[in-house]
Amino acid sequence: MKVYITGGYGQVGSTVAAMFLARGDSVFSIDNFATGRRDNLVDHPNLTALEGSIIDADVVDKTMEEFGPDVVIHTAASYKDPEDWYSDALVNGVGTANVAKSAKKHGVKRFVYFQTALCYGLHPKEQPITLDHPIEPDNCSYAISKTCGENYVHLSGLDWVTFRLANVIGERNVSGPLPIFYSRLSEGKKCFVTEARRDFCYAGDLAKVVVKASDGMGSGTYHFSSGKDVAIRELYDAVVNAMKLNDYPEPEVRPLGPDDAASILLDPSRLRADFGDVEITSLADIAQVSVDRWSREGVVGGYTHLKEARGEIRKEGQ
Ligand SMILES: NC(=O)c1ccc[n+]([C@@H]2O[C@H](COP(=O)([O-])OP(=O)(O)OC[C@H]3O[C@@H](n4cnc5c(N)ncnc54)[C@H](O)[C@@H]3O)[C@@H](O)[C@H]2O)c1
Repeated sequence: MKVYITGGYGQVGSTVAAMFLARGDSVFSIDNFATGRRDNLVDHPNLTALEGSIIDADVVDKTMEEFGPDVVIHTAASYKDPEDWYSDALVNGVGTANVAKSAKKHGVKRFVYFQTALCYGLHPKEQPITLDHPIEPDNCSYAISKTCGENYVHLSGLDWVTFRLANVIGERNVSGPLPIFYSRLSEGKKCFVTEARRDFCYAGDLAKVVVKASDGMGSGTYHFSSGKDVAIRELYDAVVNAMKLNDYPEPEVRPLGPDDAASILLDPSRLRADFGDVEITSLADIAQVSVDRWSREGVVGGYTHLKEARGEIRKEGQ
């Protein structure tokens, strides 16, 4: 099978790419390394990698025509700076339109998209959130632009599968609390946690389901979710345990920021019905593989789409 991956050096893109390469499929990646790590993928005879951006419609169309993919896995996204509406709109809106239109033109059989759970807004009307919940992404530029992209995928007439995600983490994670806790604790710095609860899922578990979807399983929209939300403090404790720290700073507990949601818990019923028993790696194991990699190869990122947390990181010059 020929698989065209946007963002092939990112967390989800590289994990999926490695799985396809391991079973003998051919992979093409387009990545501009906005948040991707070059060491997420090793060279492989069946891997073609282009450093480029999906906002360039000609590059997308030319590479799609030359490679002739069966499947497109569209993971590339902009989310690094909550104030950078321009990049979010360009990459997540225009970029997705480019990829979807070109995929349709070149006869792609299946298109896989990844949407943020923030499309349901900061104050979801139900917990867990079902797939019938209204789409209200007016809380942040990232969610608005990712929803725009999702709509272009629907408009394309492609055979698509979308996974709506809350917090997908692991050793290739560059955003949110996990890499931030690790990098601060390694320097003996104090962290802060909020009372927010999140549904943390392992990128490797998601990638296995993405490969199944690429092979034709499922159709339409799914929540990729463990079905359980945990306090951010539990993630902090998991990182402390994985780092085997005896002496560490107690985290400061802060109220939720104005752009933060108390809990985002997605209902995975449809996923389980169509994909069967989905593997769910424990938080302790996710923290351990992440700490193991970062202690060997270093941690990067710590990006966040939350304005307050980002302001804090900037103030400290991280
Ligand atoms: N990780 C999560 O918790 C989460 C939650 C909700 C939705 N999602 C969505 O899942 C997808 C994958 O997320 P991830 O965790 O792998 O993110 P990631 O940042 O690790 O990967 C994104 C990749 O896209 C690349 N990229 C960014 N802009 C690009 C551009 N203009 N052209 C080409 N490549 C570009 C980056 O360099 C990176 O390699 C994204 O679409 C994201 O919006 C992720």
